[in-house]
Amino acid sequence: MKGIILAGGLGTRLYPLTYATNKHLLPIFNKPMIFYPVKTLVSAGITEILIITSGPHAGHFIGVLKNGKELGVKHLEYAYQQKADGGIADALSLAEDFADGEPLTVILGDNTTDAEIKSYVRQFKSGATVFLKKISGKSQLRRFGVAVFDAKNKKKLLKIEEKPHAPQSEYAATGLYIYDRHVFDYIRKCSPSKRGEIEITDVNNIYLSQGTLNWVELKGFWSDAGTFETLYRANAYWAGKGGI
Ligand code: TTP
Repeated sequence: MKGIILAGGLGTRLYPLTYATNKHLLPIFNKPMIFYPVKTLVSAGITEILIITSGPHAGHFIGVLKNGKELGVKHLEYAYQQKADGGIADALSLAEDFADGEPLTVILGDNTTDAEIKSYVRQFKSGATVFLKKISGKSQLRRFGVAVFDAKNKKKLLKIEEKPHAPQSEYAATGLYIYDRHVFDYIRKCSPSKRGEIEITDVNNIYLSQGTLNWVELKGFWSDAGTFETLYRANAYWAGKGGI
């Protein structure tokens, strides 16, 4: 199992903070944001990691992460996404050579969690696993891909809707996924959405249509840190916990 951290994008919702550096290098309590997803992967036993970044401050990562050894990473690589806001799946497409046919655990660089994912990583054989989290409030849910379940079987996932106006459940797709090698073929099948991004939700729905998508509920704290509200929330949580 290899690990991918998606740390591209422009971080426009955090302007003016992200005029000066990449979103994923902003502080969460006493560490740069990117340390948190690195720790999530390393704690799950994943020590070969590719960081995919983009935008005007991409070069800042190397000074912070160096070769990753201080964080327990054995092999660290970097890739550059040409279209800074091409979408999460566009960024992931750059990992094909690095993956070299192996399964991948993918985490968004602005996600922080204390959930233990080691058992899912170990058990993973094929297809895809998405980690869902119950979120309260429609306005919050509208920022995510939201699960639609079968009315008769509440555990049967029918599809994931990207940023729905009327969310059909309270379960949002977090930015944590495990994929087999088919992910790259599925990304190639996707066209840009109305907002011009190759959507990871479309990729997940292809896995669903193939009957090869599993979902699990992520236990513990999880938050993105891509808005002022969630950046503050993540800071408050990790400060209360004394950091990672
Ligand atoms: P978003 O928060 O959706 O996008 P963003 O980081 O560009 O922020 P904003 O909407 O405020 O402009 O992205 C979620 C994560 O996905 C983010 O941590 C980085 C990653 N990402 C990429 O790696 N490449 C991309 O093209 C996009 C859109 C996001």
